[in-house]
Amino acid sequence: MSTATATESQVNEIVQKYQTLDLKNPPKSNSTIQVELKNPNGVKEGFGDDYSKYLPQSTKDRFQRHGIDISKGYPERPQSIPLFLDDAYKIRNQADPNYIERGVNADPEKKALFSKAKLVRNLTKYVGTELVGVQLSDLNDQELDELALLISERIVVFFRNQDLSPQDQLKIGEFFGSVEKHPLAAQVSGQPGVTTIWGKFNRKDKETDFKKRGGNLWHTDLDHEFRGPSLTHLHLDAIPKEASGDTAWTSGYGAFDKLSPEFQKFLEGKIAIHRSAHKYFDRDDVLAGGKHIEREHPLVVTHPVTGWKALFVNRGHTLRIKDLEPEESQTILNYLFNVLEKNLDIQVRFNWAIPEQDRSLGASAIWDNRVSNHYAIADYDDETDERHGTRVTSLGAPPVYKEGSKSQREALGWDK
Ligand SMILES: [Fe+2]
Repeated sequence: MSTATATESQVNEIVQKYQTLDLKNPPKSNSTIQVELKNPNGVKEGFGDDYSKYLPQSTKDRFQRHGIDISKGYPERPQSIPLFLDDAYKIRNQADPNYIERGVNADPEKKALFSKAKLVRNLTKYVGTELVGVQLSDLNDQELDELALLISERIVVFFRNQDLSPQDQLKIGEFFGSVEKHPLAAQVSGQPGVTTIWGKFNRKDKETDFKKRGGNLWHTDLDHEFRGPSLTHLHLDAIPKEASGDTAWTSGYGAFDKLSPEFQKFLEGKIAIHRSAHKYFDRDDVLAGGKHIEREHPLVVTHPVTGWKALFVNRGHTLRIKDLEPEESQTILNYLFNVLEKNLDIQVRFNWAIPEQDRSLGASAIWDNRVSNHYAIADYDDETDERHGTRVTSLGAPPVYKEGSKSQREALGWDK
Protein backbone atom coordinates (compact mmCIF):
# COMPACT_ATOMS: atom_id res chain seq x y z
CA MET A 1 0.00 0.00 0.00
CA SER A 2 1.35 3.45 -0.89
CA THR A 3 1.85 6.11 1.69
CA ALA A 4 2.06 9.87 1.65
CA THR A 5 3.46 12.39 4.09
CA ALA A 6 1.10 14.90 5.65
CA THR A 7 0.83 17.10 8.72
CA GLU A 8 -1.81 16.52 11.36
CA SER A 9 -4.12 19.22 10.08
CA GLN A 10 -3.74 17.91 6.55
CA VAL A 11 -4.58 14.44 7.78
CA ASN A 12 -7.76 15.72 9.38
CA GLU A 13 -8.64 17.40 6.14
CA ILE A 14 -8.08 14.19 4.19
CA VAL A 15 -10.04 12.14 6.68
CA GLN A 16 -12.98 14.50 6.40
CA LYS A 17 -12.87 14.24 2.64
CA TYR A 18 -12.25 10.50 2.38
CA GLN A 19 -13.95 8.52 5.07
CA THR A 20 -12.26 5.38 3.80
CA LEU A 21 -8.75 6.44 4.85
CA ASP A 22 -6.95 4.20 7.32
CA LEU A 23 -4.57 5.92 9.71
CA LYS A 24 -1.56 3.72 10.28
CA ASN A 25 -0.25 5.82 13.15
CA PRO A 26 -2.28 8.10 15.37
CA PRO A 27 -1.45 11.75 14.69
CA LYS A 28 0.89 13.45 17.16
CA SER A 29 0.67 17.14 17.70
CA ASN A 30 2.79 19.24 15.30
CA SER A 31 4.45 16.17 13.85
CA THR A 32 4.61 14.79 10.34
CA ILE A 33 3.00 11.39 9.97
CA GLN A 34 2.49 8.68 7.41
CA VAL A 35 -1.02 7.97 6.26
CA GLU A 36 -2.12 4.92 4.37
CA LEU A 37 -4.08 5.95 1.32
CA LYS A 38 -6.90 3.93 -0.12
CA ASN A 39 -7.76 4.50 -3.74
CA PRO A 40 -10.17 7.40 -4.21
CA ASN A 41 -12.67 5.13 -5.96
CA GLY A 42 -13.07 3.03 -2.83
CA VAL A 43 -12.47 -0.18 -4.77
CA LYS A 44 -11.45 -3.19 -2.72
CA GLU A 45 -8.59 -5.41 -3.89
CA GLY A 46 -8.63 -9.16 -4.50
CA PHE A 47 -11.97 -10.84 -3.88
CA GLY A 48 -13.29 -7.90 -1.86
CA ASP A 49 -17.01 -8.40 -1.41
CA ASP A 50 -18.07 -11.93 -2.28
CA TYR A 51 -21.20 -11.81 -4.41
CA SER A 52 -20.98 -15.39 -5.65
CA LYS A 53 -24.17 -16.37 -3.82
CA TYR A 54 -26.13 -13.81 -5.82
CA LEU A 55 -25.01 -15.06 -9.23
CA PRO A 56 -27.87 -15.85 -11.61
CA GLN A 57 -28.33 -19.59 -12.25
CA SER A 58 -27.46 -19.36 -15.95
CA THR A 59 -24.16 -17.64 -15.06
CA LYS A 60 -23.34 -20.26 -12.43
CA ASP A 61 -24.11 -22.99 -14.97
CA ARG A 62 -21.88 -21.35 -17.56
CA PHE A 63 -19.01 -21.04 -15.08
CA GLN A 64 -19.44 -24.63 -13.98
CA ARG A 65 -19.59 -25.97 -17.54
CA HIS A 66 -16.32 -24.24 -18.32
CA GLY A 67 -14.37 -24.84 -15.12
CA ILE A 68 -14.46 -21.33 -13.62
CA ASP A 69 -13.78 -21.66 -9.89
CA ILE A 70 -15.82 -19.24 -7.78
CA SER A 71 -15.20 -21.04 -4.48
CA LYS A 72 -12.82 -18.27 -3.30
CA GLY A 73 -15.35 -15.60 -4.12
CA TYR A 74 -16.79 -13.65 -7.02
CA PRO A 75 -16.00 -11.33 -8.67
CA GLU A 76 -12.27 -10.82 -8.31
CA ARG A 77 -10.53 -7.44 -8.28
CA PRO A 78 -6.92 -6.86 -9.31
CA GLN A 79 -4.51 -7.51 -6.43
CA SER A 80 -2.79 -4.16 -6.65
CA ILE A 81 -4.73 -1.07 -7.60
CA PRO A 82 -2.77 2.04 -8.69
CA LEU A 83 -3.26 4.95 -6.33
CA PHE A 84 -1.37 7.69 -8.06
CA LEU A 85 -2.05 9.51 -11.28
CA ASP A 86 1.50 9.22 -12.64
CA ASP A 87 1.39 5.42 -12.22
CA ALA A 88 -2.01 5.24 -13.86
CA TYR A 89 -0.78 7.35 -16.82
CA LYS A 90 2.11 4.93 -17.37
CA ILE A 91 -0.20 1.98 -17.95
CA ARG A 92 -0.20 1.14 -21.67
CA ASN A 93 1.27 4.51 -22.47
CA GLN A 94 2.95 3.42 -25.68
CA ALA A 95 2.16 1.72 -28.95
CA ASP A 96 2.00 -2.09 -28.97
CA PRO A 97 4.68 -3.31 -31.42
CA ASN A 98 2.88 -6.65 -31.78
CA TYR A 99 -0.49 -5.18 -32.69
CA ILE A 100 -2.03 -6.55 -35.89
CA GLU A 101 -4.95 -4.67 -37.38
CA ARG A 102 -7.47 -7.42 -38.11
CA GLY A 103 -9.87 -7.05 -41.01
CA VAL A 104 -7.52 -5.05 -43.25
CA ASN A 105 -6.82 -7.97 -45.59
CA ALA A 106 -10.09 -9.82 -45.07
CA ASP A 107 -12.29 -10.91 -47.97
CA PRO A 108 -14.58 -7.90 -48.58
CA GLU A 109 -17.46 -10.31 -49.24
CA LYS A 110 -16.77 -12.27 -46.03
CA LYS A 111 -17.64 -15.53 -47.77
CA ALA A 112 -16.14 -17.85 -45.14
CA LEU A 113 -17.95 -16.15 -42.24
CA PHE A 114 -21.28 -15.70 -44.02
CA SER A 115 -21.32 -19.30 -45.26
CA LYS A 116 -21.46 -20.38 -41.60
CA ALA A 117 -24.53 -18.24 -40.91
CA LYS A 118 -28.11 -19.37 -41.42
CA LEU A 119 -28.99 -15.73 -41.85
CA VAL A 120 -27.17 -12.40 -42.01
CA ARG A 121 -29.73 -9.98 -40.63
CA ASN A 122 -29.16 -6.22 -40.71
CA LEU A 123 -31.07 -4.71 -37.77
CA THR A 124 -31.13 -1.21 -39.24
CA LYS A 125 -29.98 0.17 -42.58
CA TYR A 126 -26.72 1.65 -41.36
CA VAL A 127 -25.87 0.09 -38.00
CA GLY A 128 -26.00 -3.37 -36.46
CA THR A 129 -25.99 -6.87 -37.99
CA GLU A 130 -26.96 -10.17 -36.43
CA LEU A 131 -25.33 -13.40 -37.56
CA VAL A 132 -27.90 -16.13 -36.98
CA GLY A 133 -26.77 -19.72 -36.47
CA VAL A 134 -23.08 -18.95 -35.86
CA GLN A 135 -21.25 -20.08 -32.70
CA LEU A 136 -18.47 -17.61 -31.93
CA SER A 137 -16.37 -20.38 -30.40
CA ASP A 138 -16.36 -22.19 -33.78
CA LEU A 139 -14.81 -19.36 -35.80
CA ASN A 140 -11.31 -19.82 -37.19
CA ASP A 141 -8.77 -17.04 -37.76
CA GLN A 142 -9.95 -16.30 -41.29
CA GLU A 143 -13.56 -16.03 -40.15
CA LEU A 144 -12.62 -13.85 -37.18
CA ASP A 145 -10.68 -11.62 -39.56
CA GLU A 146 -13.78 -11.25 -41.71
CA LEU A 147 -15.79 -10.56 -38.57
CA ALA A 148 -13.40 -7.72 -37.67
CA LEU A 149 -14.09 -6.21 -41.10
CA LEU A 150 -17.85 -6.64 -40.72
CA ILE A 151 -17.80 -4.94 -37.30
CA SER A 152 -15.76 -2.02 -38.62
CA GLU A 153 -18.39 -1.50 -41.34
CA ARG A 154 -21.54 -2.19 -39.33
CA ILE A 155 -20.39 -0.76 -35.92
CA VAL A 156 -21.82 -3.70 -33.96
CA VAL A 157 -22.49 -7.39 -34.69
CA PHE A 158 -24.73 -9.66 -32.58
CA PHE A 159 -24.82 -13.40 -31.88
CA ARG A 160 -27.61 -15.12 -29.97
CA ASN A 161 -27.83 -18.54 -28.32
CA GLN A 162 -24.13 -18.85 -27.60
CA ASP A 163 -22.46 -21.39 -25.36
CA LEU A 164 -19.30 -19.36 -24.95
CA SER A 165 -16.76 -19.95 -22.20
CA PRO A 166 -15.02 -16.95 -20.61
CA GLN A 167 -11.77 -18.58 -21.79
CA ASP A 168 -12.94 -18.62 -25.42
CA GLN A 169 -14.21 -15.07 -25.10
CA LEU A 170 -10.73 -14.08 -23.96
CA LYS A 171 -9.09 -15.98 -26.86
CA ILE A 172 -11.29 -14.21 -29.40
CA GLY A 173 -10.37 -10.88 -27.79
CA GLU A 174 -6.67 -11.70 -27.98
CA PHE A 175 -7.01 -12.41 -31.68
CA PHE A 176 -8.28 -8.84 -32.19
CA GLY A 177 -5.53 -7.18 -30.11
CA SER A 178 -3.97 -7.26 -26.67
CA VAL A 179 -6.74 -7.60 -24.13
CA GLU A 180 -7.23 -4.74 -21.70
CA LYS A 181 -6.70 -5.71 -18.09
CA HIS A 182 -8.37 -2.93 -16.17
CA PRO A 183 -6.46 -1.73 -13.11
CA LEU A 184 -9.65 -1.50 -11.02
CA ALA A 185 -12.46 -3.46 -12.62
CA ALA A 186 -14.07 -6.58 -11.18
CA GLN A 187 -13.34 -9.65 -13.27
CA VAL A 188 -14.11 -13.33 -13.63
CA SER A 189 -12.10 -15.27 -11.06
CA GLY A 190 -8.80 -16.45 -12.52
CA GLN A 191 -9.44 -14.81 -15.91
CA PRO A 192 -7.81 -11.36 -15.93
CA GLY A 193 -9.17 -9.40 -18.87
CA VAL A 194 -12.68 -10.88 -18.58
CA THR A 195 -14.49 -8.05 -16.83
CA THR A 196 -17.73 -8.49 -14.89
CA ILE A 197 -20.67 -6.39 -16.04
CA TRP A 198 -23.25 -6.80 -13.30
CA GLY A 199 -25.61 -4.13 -12.06
CA LYS A 200 -26.33 -5.92 -8.80
CA PHE A 201 -22.65 -5.95 -7.84
CA ASN A 202 -21.81 -2.51 -9.25
CA ARG A 203 -24.75 -0.82 -7.59
CA LYS A 204 -24.26 -2.76 -4.33
CA ASP A 205 -27.91 -3.19 -3.46
CA LYS A 206 -28.66 0.48 -3.76
CA GLU A 207 -32.37 0.91 -4.16
CA THR A 208 -33.48 1.26 -7.73
CA ASP A 209 -34.89 4.65 -8.58
CA PHE A 210 -36.80 5.13 -11.81
CA LYS A 211 -36.13 8.87 -11.83
CA LYS A 212 -32.38 8.36 -11.59
CA ARG A 213 -31.89 5.20 -13.57
CA GLY A 214 -32.05 6.97 -16.90
CA GLY A 215 -28.95 8.81 -15.75
CA ASN A 216 -26.60 6.71 -17.86
CA LEU A 217 -24.72 8.57 -20.58
CA TRP A 218 -23.78 7.90 -24.15
CA HIS A 219 -20.11 7.05 -24.02
CA THR A 220 -17.16 5.21 -25.50
CA ASP A 221 -15.24 2.77 -23.32
CA LEU A 222 -11.78 3.73 -22.03
CA ASP A 223 -11.23 6.57 -24.49
CA HIS A 224 -8.82 8.13 -21.97
CA GLU A 225 -6.34 5.41 -22.94
CA PHE A 226 -3.40 6.23 -25.22
CA ARG A 227 -4.34 3.28 -27.41
CA GLY A 228 -7.95 2.70 -26.54
CA PRO A 229 -10.25 -0.20 -27.32
CA SER A 230 -10.72 -1.26 -30.91
CA LEU A 231 -13.32 -3.99 -30.39
CA THR A 232 -15.31 -4.70 -27.25
CA HIS A 233 -17.17 -7.94 -26.74
CA LEU A 234 -19.99 -8.02 -24.21
CA HIS A 235 -21.47 -11.44 -23.57
CA LEU A 236 -24.60 -11.56 -21.43
CA ASP A 237 -24.97 -14.93 -19.75
CA ALA A 238 -27.98 -13.80 -17.72
CA ILE A 239 -30.57 -11.93 -19.73
CA PRO A 240 -33.44 -10.07 -18.04
CA LYS A 241 -36.76 -11.90 -18.17
CA GLU A 242 -38.69 -8.82 -19.10
CA ALA A 243 -37.84 -6.94 -22.27
CA SER A 244 -35.34 -4.71 -20.50
CA GLY A 245 -31.63 -4.03 -20.14
CA ASP A 246 -31.19 -3.19 -23.83
CA THR A 247 -28.02 -1.61 -25.17
CA ALA A 248 -27.93 1.04 -27.89
CA TRP A 249 -25.16 2.13 -30.25
CA THR A 250 -24.75 5.19 -32.45
CA SER A 251 -22.44 5.55 -35.43
CA GLY A 252 -19.56 8.03 -35.48
CA TYR A 253 -19.43 7.60 -39.29
CA GLY A 254 -23.08 8.57 -39.61
CA ALA A 255 -22.73 11.51 -37.22
CA PHE A 256 -19.82 12.89 -39.24
CA ASP A 257 -21.83 12.51 -42.44
CA LYS A 258 -24.67 14.58 -40.92
CA LEU A 259 -22.43 17.68 -40.75
CA SER A 260 -22.00 20.28 -43.48
CA PRO A 261 -18.76 20.06 -45.50
CA GLU A 262 -17.62 23.43 -44.11
CA PHE A 263 -18.15 22.34 -40.51
CA GLN A 264 -16.47 19.00 -41.24
CA LYS A 265 -13.42 20.91 -42.49
CA PHE A 266 -13.36 23.04 -39.34
CA LEU A 267 -13.37 19.94 -37.14
CA GLU A 268 -10.80 17.88 -39.05
CA GLY A 269 -7.43 18.07 -37.36
CA LYS A 270 -8.87 19.40 -34.08
CA ILE A 271 -7.89 17.70 -30.84
CA ALA A 272 -10.30 16.79 -28.05
CA ILE A 273 -9.51 15.96 -24.42
CA HIS A 274 -11.00 12.75 -22.98
CA ARG A 275 -11.16 11.86 -19.31
CA SER A 276 -11.09 8.58 -17.41
CA ALA A 277 -14.08 7.33 -15.44
CA HIS A 278 -11.86 6.55 -12.45
CA LYS A 279 -9.76 8.85 -10.28
CA TYR A 280 -6.25 8.67 -8.85
CA PHE A 281 -4.27 10.84 -6.42
CA ASP A 282 -1.85 13.44 -7.66
CA ARG A 283 1.35 12.48 -5.86
CA ASP A 284 2.32 16.13 -5.43
CA ASP A 285 -1.10 17.28 -4.33
CA VAL A 286 -2.83 14.49 -2.44
CA LEU A 287 -5.14 16.97 -0.72
CA ALA A 288 -6.68 17.91 -4.04
CA GLY A 289 -8.38 14.51 -3.92
CA GLY A 290 -8.87 12.09 -6.79
CA LYS A 291 -8.15 13.37 -10.27
CA HIS A 292 -9.05 11.90 -13.63
CA ILE A 293 -6.60 10.88 -16.32
CA GLU A 294 -6.89 13.20 -19.31
CA ARG A 295 -5.80 12.28 -22.83
CA GLU A 296 -5.74 14.02 -26.21
CA HIS A 297 -7.19 12.38 -29.33
CA PRO A 298 -8.17 13.64 -32.80
CA LEU A 299 -11.78 14.81 -32.83
CA VAL A 300 -12.27 13.35 -36.29
CA VAL A 301 -10.62 9.96 -36.71
CA THR A 302 -9.94 7.80 -39.74
CA HIS A 303 -10.82 4.16 -39.18
CA PRO A 304 -7.75 1.98 -39.83
CA VAL A 305 -9.74 -0.74 -41.61
CA THR A 306 -12.50 1.04 -43.54
CA GLY A 307 -10.54 4.27 -44.03
CA TRP A 308 -13.77 6.20 -43.27
CA LYS A 309 -13.90 9.34 -41.16
CA ALA A 310 -15.84 9.34 -37.89
CA LEU A 311 -16.63 11.72 -35.05
CA PHE A 312 -14.69 10.63 -31.99
CA VAL A 313 -16.37 12.40 -29.08
CA ASN A 314 -18.85 11.30 -26.43
CA ARG A 315 -20.85 13.04 -23.73
CA GLY A 316 -19.59 10.71 -21.02
CA HIS A 317 -15.89 11.44 -21.28
CA THR A 318 -15.02 14.21 -23.77
CA LEU A 319 -14.22 17.36 -21.83
CA ARG A 320 -13.20 20.03 -24.30
CA ILE A 321 -11.72 20.89 -27.68
CA LYS A 322 -8.14 22.04 -27.50
CA ASP A 323 -7.29 25.64 -28.42
CA LEU A 324 -10.90 26.88 -28.37
CA GLU A 325 -12.44 29.20 -25.80
CA PRO A 326 -14.31 27.18 -23.14
CA GLU A 327 -17.70 28.41 -24.31
CA GLU A 328 -16.92 27.70 -27.97
CA SER A 329 -15.71 24.25 -27.05
CA GLN A 330 -18.78 23.45 -24.93
CA THR A 331 -21.22 24.74 -27.53
CA ILE A 332 -19.63 22.72 -30.33
CA LEU A 333 -19.28 19.58 -28.23
CA ASN A 334 -22.90 19.79 -27.13
CA TYR A 335 -23.98 20.06 -30.74
CA LEU A 336 -21.83 17.07 -31.73
CA PHE A 337 -23.15 14.98 -28.81
CA ASN A 338 -26.67 15.82 -29.95
CA VAL A 339 -25.92 14.72 -33.50
CA LEU A 340 -24.71 11.36 -32.19
CA GLU A 341 -27.54 10.95 -29.69
CA LYS A 342 -30.61 12.30 -31.46
CA ASN A 343 -30.41 10.81 -34.94
CA LEU A 344 -32.19 7.49 -34.68
CA ASP A 345 -31.30 6.55 -38.26
CA ILE A 346 -27.66 6.09 -37.26
CA GLN A 347 -28.48 4.05 -34.17
CA VAL A 348 -29.45 0.52 -33.23
CA ARG A 349 -31.04 -0.66 -30.00
CA PHE A 350 -30.51 -4.32 -29.18
CA ASN A 351 -32.95 -6.27 -27.11
CA TRP A 352 -30.96 -9.14 -25.64
CA ALA A 353 -34.00 -11.25 -24.84
CA ILE A 354 -36.14 -11.32 -27.96
CA PRO A 355 -36.64 -12.86 -30.40
CA GLU A 356 -35.37 -16.41 -30.33
CA GLN A 357 -33.09 -16.20 -27.30
CA ASP A 358 -32.64 -19.34 -25.22
CA ARG A 359 -32.10 -18.01 -21.67
CA SER A 360 -29.96 -20.94 -20.63
CA LEU A 361 -27.48 -19.70 -23.25
CA GLY A 362 -25.89 -16.29 -23.73
CA ALA A 363 -25.88 -13.53 -26.33
CA SER A 364 -22.93 -11.50 -27.58
CA ALA A 365 -22.44 -8.03 -29.00
CA ILE A 366 -19.06 -7.07 -30.45
CA TRP A 367 -18.65 -3.43 -31.36
CA ASP A 368 -16.10 -1.00 -32.67
CA ASN A 369 -15.31 1.58 -30.00
CA ARG A 370 -13.32 3.77 -32.37
CA VAL A 371 -16.36 4.85 -34.36
CA SER A 372 -19.30 4.62 -31.97
CA ASN A 373 -20.92 5.61 -28.71
CA HIS A 374 -23.06 3.22 -26.72
CA TYR A 375 -25.64 3.43 -23.95
CA ALA A 376 -26.70 0.75 -21.46
CA ILE A 377 -30.40 1.20 -20.74
CA ALA A 378 -30.90 0.59 -17.03
CA ASP A 379 -34.62 -0.21 -16.96
CA TYR A 380 -34.27 -3.63 -15.37
CA ASP A 381 -34.63 -4.58 -11.77
CA ASP A 382 -31.55 -6.22 -10.23
CA GLU A 383 -33.69 -8.60 -8.19
CA THR A 384 -36.31 -9.79 -10.64
CA ASP A 385 -34.60 -9.22 -13.99
CA GLU A 386 -31.16 -10.61 -13.41
CA ARG A 387 -28.56 -9.29 -15.84
CA HIS A 388 -24.96 -10.45 -15.75
CA GLY A 389 -22.30 -10.33 -18.41
CA THR A 390 -18.62 -10.68 -19.14
CA ARG A 391 -16.74 -8.16 -21.23
CA VAL A 392 -13.47 -8.51 -23.10
CA THR A 393 -11.90 -5.41 -24.59
CA SER A 394 -9.19 -5.54 -27.25
CA LEU A 395 -6.88 -2.57 -27.49
CA GLY A 396 -6.11 -1.06 -30.87
CA ALA A 397 -3.62 1.42 -32.27
CA PRO A 398 -3.75 5.06 -31.07
CA PRO A 399 -6.52 6.89 -32.97
CA VAL A 400 -5.38 9.00 -35.91
CA TYR A 401 -6.84 11.36 -38.46
CA LYS A 402 -5.60 10.89 -42.02
CA GLU A 403 -5.71 13.90 -44.30
CA GLY A 404 -7.63 13.10 -47.47
CA SER A 405 -9.63 10.20 -46.03
CA LYS A 406 -13.28 9.89 -47.04
CA SER A 407 -16.49 9.74 -45.10
CA GLN A 408 -18.60 6.58 -45.23
CA ARG A 409 -21.19 8.08 -47.58
CA GLU A 410 -18.50 9.47 -49.84
CA ALA A 411 -16.56 6.19 -49.96
CA LEU A 412 -19.67 4.11 -50.65
CA GLY A 413 -21.19 6.60 -53.10
CA TRP A 414 -24.44 6.82 -51.11
CA ASP A 415 -25.17 10.42 -52.11
CA LYS A 416 -24.71 9.97 -55.85
FE1 LIG B 1 -19.53 1.09 -21.85
